[in-house]
Amino acid sequence: MHNPQSQQSVGGSFGGHVNTLQIIRDKQVDRYEIVPGKDPKFSDVILETPNCILSCKKVQGTINKHGEAYSLKWKEELGNGGNGEIWKVEFTSQSSLPREYAAKNTKTREDIYSQNIALNELRHECEILKQLDHAHIVKYMGFAEFQHDQISKRFVLLLEKCDGGDLLTMINDRHKIYSVYTVVYWAEQLFSALEYLRKGNFIHRDIKAENVLLSIKQFLSPNKIEYDVKLCDFAFTIRRENTTFFLMKTSEEFPKGTYASMSPEVYNCMVCHRSDIFCLGLVLWFLIERRKFYSCPSEWKTYQTAKQQEPSFVNCRDDLRNIIYDCTRKKFYNRAQDAEEVRHRLETILQQSALNLSPDLKATSTVSVQMDA
Ligand SMILES: Nc1ncnc2c1ncn2[C@@H]1O[C@H](COP(=O)(O)OP(=O)(O)OP(=O)(O)O)[C@@H](O)[C@H]1O
Ligand SMILES: [Mg+2]
Repeated sequence: MHNPQSQQSVGGSFGGHVNTLQIIRDKQVDRYEIVPGKDPKFSDVILETPNCILSCKKVQGTINKHGEAYSLKWKEELGNGGNGEIWKVEFTSQSSLPREYAAKNTKTREDIYSQNIALNELRHECEILKQLDHAHIVKYMGFAEFQHDQISKRFVLLLEKCDGGDLLTMINDRHKIYSVYTVVYWAEQLFSALEYLRKGNFIHRDIKAENVLLSIKQFLSPNKIEYDVKLCDFAFTIRRENTTFFLMKTSEEFPKGTYASMSPEVYNCMVCHRSDIFCLGLVLWFLIERRKFYSCPSEWKTYQTAKQQEPSFVNCRDDLRNIIYDCTRKKFYNRAQDAEEVRHRLETILQQSALNLSPDLKATSTVSVQMDA
């Protein structure tokens, strides 16, 4: 993208190199923000990427736009969802070690109407993430909104970067081996995030394996890694006075999510905290079974099947099977009541194995990589 007001490129080549961010001075940015205290090294810069500009407000005085050289590299694509492209960006200045972030950008759409829908969804996600602060929810770092051309605006959301990819990729990679203990360990973290959302009256509405990120906790050996998990993708999240149950009436509330992971009441324009419990129950089912719960040839068939059929029993120890069963009941009033109840049951399993009361469940939460012989 060419910007006539571009003035300077710092810390890297620019022009033909699409993988290098260009630092420019530009007065056209409408709104920008960086979270104070989260990264004091971010400065008053505006950054042009292959298809967007990222602006970060100066928060502390050590770097100013004339004094110090800094560079941002547009490194690689981390993910590509229905709405956004997520890229790894690396920030370096003279006084700091390189730091990496994830930048979610609105995709280029063919018409202004769908471009605006994408823009509003990302703005909305940003507003939601600003209100959240939990160890198992991806952290908001900043945003930039700017005029892209005469008619369209662009939005960039800056997030903490999670190094382990997403859970869908992990589940589908047959070289990655994890234990039932690891599933319970991750599940306890995810239900604690869900309980945090419930207490704040948020309903996520799009919980699925690809919206769970893996963050590396420690490398135990070259092929043994310990991960924590974090919820991401809050584009469809809503906040209401209470999350017990309500009918979706407005266009903002209109059923959203992913057919194969939607809870049955959402098809009837109803949603509640227990809809998220259902979706997280399906994630656990998928983590254990490592196959699709509905294998249908089309989205429409999936929709029809999911409305009528409950997921089958999972093949695992009784206490975990019962938890998943209680989370995935078709009628929401038959499901586990809240995330805290589920989290507590998961914690009990973890405690039992830590005390060696469950010898079949060895207390290690690692993922090992096994290559083909
Ligand atoms: N902070 C992050 N760190 C690392 N990878 C990320 C991060 N955020 C997102 N990703 C990757 O990008 C993918 C898409 O991100 P996200 O779900 O936010 O986009 P989306 O367009 O809203 O997706 P959807 O298709 O679900 O609507 C994720 O599944 C994950 O693989
Ligand atoms: Mg997603």
